[in-house]
Amino acid sequence: MAATRRIAVYNGKGGCGKTTIAWNLAMGLARRASTLLVDADPQGSLGHWADWAERDGHYAIAFCEWAAFDERLQQHHRYQVYDCPPRLDEPEIDGILGQADVVLMPVLPSPLDLWASRRSAELLRRLQGRRPGLQAFFLLNQVEPQSALSRASQSAMETMGLPVLPVRIGRRAIYRNAAVEGLSVYHMGQRATAATDEMERLIEEVLK
Ligand SMILES: Nc1ncnc2c1ncn2[C@@H]1O[C@H](COP(=O)(O)OP(=O)(O)OP(=O)(O)O)[C@@H](O)[C@H]1O
Ligand SMILES: [Mg+2]
Repeated sequence: MAATRRIAVYNGKGGCGKTTIAWNLAMGLARRASTLLVDADPQGSLGHWADWAERDGHYAIAFCEWAAFDERLQQHHRYQVYDCPPRLDEPEIDGILGQADVVLMPVLPSPLDLWASRRSAELLRRLQGRRPGLQAFFLLNQVEPQSALSRASQSAMETMGLPVLPVRIGRRAIYRNAAVEGLSVYHMGQRATAATDEMERLIEEVLK
């Protein structure tokens, strides 16, 4: 089997888009190769999508909860996506992130939100100290189309010392609408083109 890619979506701060990004990313990856989505958040936000997604004939994904995760499962899937809980509990988070080749840290593009991610960025950098091959990036989410990132936001990210992915995820109603229907943006037709385009750019970045 070609090289696998394991992607964790993590930020100890709540509500920055981890589940939204993990879900749509997994559905986009599933169009390329067999994909496993791991719900590592005991809130189980992905649960209501999972049954449906496993049955979907077009872009089926495999799904499991972290509590039931077994490393043997990984052998069967080229791509794996981990949706992390909004916690900083180090041994547990280390265990989940320990499975990953690349960690995406979604952040909202405001200085206050960014600073709230500081401890998560520190945790990631400690982890990178122990595992130098681990890649970790900020991923700006809910960016207003055409808005420039403020100098304060830029400097907050520079201070925290993680690189920022060039692709930004826009603030788009289609992400919410798709979620309400239990679908991904890939299932929403023409009106989701901007969203699927940016998810495709994200996929290109994480597969580099
Ligand atoms: N790019 C986006 N455009 C519009 N709405 C978004 C976007 N990303 C996330 N949202 C909305 O923001 C809210 C929080 O997103 P989500 O649940 O994915 O965050 P989370 O980081 O997983 O939260 P938690 O920390 O509680 O697990 C949801 O209502 C979601 O629909
Ligand atoms: Mg979540």
